[in-house]
Amino acid sequence: MTDITTDRVIIVGAGIGALYAALKFAPRPVVVISPDPLGQGASSAWAQGGVAAAMDVADSPESHAADTVKAGAGMVAPDVADLVTREARAYILDLTTMGTPFDRTKGGDYVLSREAAHSFARVVRVKGDQAGSEIMAALIERVRETPSIQVLEGVIAVGLGVADARVTGVAVQDASEGGSDTVTVHGPAVLLAGGGSGGLYALTTNPPRIRGQVIGMAARAGALIADAEFVQFHPTAMDVGADPAPLATEALRGEGATLINKHGVRFMQAIHPDAELAPRDVVARAIFAEVQAGNRPMLDTRAALGERITELFPAVVDYCLSNGIDPTQDPIPVAPAAHYHMGGIDTDTQGRASLDGLWVCGEASSTGLHGANRLASNGLLEALVYARICADGIAGILPAVDDAAPLDIRFANAGMSASSVAVQELRQVMTRHVGVVRDRAGLIRALQTIAALEADHADDPTFRNMCATATLIAASALIREESRGAHERSDFPETANGQGERSRMHLSDALVI
Ligand code: SIN
Repeated sequence: MTDITTDRVIIVGAGIGALYAALKFAPRPVVVISPDPLGQGASSAWAQGGVAAAMDVADSPESHAADTVKAGAGMVAPDVADLVTREARAYILDLTTMGTPFDRTKGGDYVLSREAAHSFARVVRVKGDQAGSEIMAALIERVRETPSIQVLEGVIAVGLGVADARVTGVAVQDASEGGSDTVTVHGPAVLLAGGGSGGLYALTTNPPRIRGQVIGMAARAGALIADAEFVQFHPTAMDVGADPAPLATEALRGEGATLINKHGVRFMQAIHPDAELAPRDVVARAIFAEVQAGNRPMLDTRAALGERITELFPAVVDYCLSNGIDPTQDPIPVAPAAHYHMGGIDTDTQGRASLDGLWVCGEASSTGLHGANRLASNGLLEALVYARICADGIAGILPAVDDAAPLDIRFANAGMSASSVAVQELRQVMTRHVGVVRDRAGLIRALQTIAALEADHADDPTFRNMCATATLIAASALIREESRGAHERSDFPETANGQGERSRMHLSDALVI
């Protein structure tokens, strides 16, 4: 183990939150730690829908906040919903200035998509369904030309350095298969922006490396974790045997695509007055029930979109064609897949975690915005808003520094990493017992299996980080004896009366359940 010290603020992750924060810190020197080359590996780049923002003259931030609170099933912090939605428009304008080619009408207005549980068409999109990759491309270009930002690619964060309950740095390894020895980089502040946990599940829309490691490493360092049980399953991942599963964006349903089963029945009409545009958790459960019943649920875009799908949703069409489906001729087989972790590292309204010296933004955080069910396309918005809040907060307490030597990290290859068999076993157990529908017996079985897997791989910090997050999800799900939003307990099907209580837990509490 080697220790090095830097004057750079350390940012873990390389999605929209991480890169936007790095740019907002400039000219203060930062180092961005990314396991993959920029643009590959972060969930943000895979976002299809876009960024939710009240841009229409008839719309308002108040309406956006109200929809966010309503979708969150009694668990959203209203002050956070107000804060995030109030400035959404300003962030769209800023991204535009940074070079994001948002879709515009002939008159120059932003083109807005409709997604479930939004009262207005409110999702600002790019090249149809390529918002994530296009926003990322613009940010990466700005990052590459900003001298204060050092990007360390091929390096993975595996732990936090902590002294006297204060985070002092980040332990890192070579990200290549097989791990390496560990180097701890000590810096003036740490911002975690390394994504969520979708890949802890066997069926996920998240990139392969997004498996709860960042939440897990904060938990292992003693940070409080909030609302871990609330994992959002996207209703319409393509069920084509691919891992990860390609997404069929909700905006397709916004354009009128319907959900049918192999008998041709449009099953959502009997379940919710908003049918295919019911809240995401409702649609996910309905599709899950169809899968369980062997009814082969499918998304039918033919009548609503026909040939227009190629122009409006080129990424979806590409995914379909490369998996042998022509969506102009055939419906797309779908299944719910782990998509977004509403829970995460507990943060206050300034993005501060429970440990001093630690800030968090994006999916790794739990700010209270998403509650038990995130409103579609609020994820990228939250990442942007809190990236700036964290950058301002950190800059406000640190002495001004305008130059720092680049970090030069050398690894020796002496590490261990868990076999892919163990990772796959973890993912299977999460899907089977901690998935769309849960019960006490399954959750207890999951906790036992996760503990056994972790014990067998105690020398692999990355796998232990995954197990920590998996443990927190299962333990919080076990404690919440009700069904609420995305958390469905078959043995407690009712929602407790009134506003839900947010769950907050240390890993040490979860391990003794
Ligand atoms: C989608 O486009 O359906 C996903 C958007 C989101 O998860 O926010």
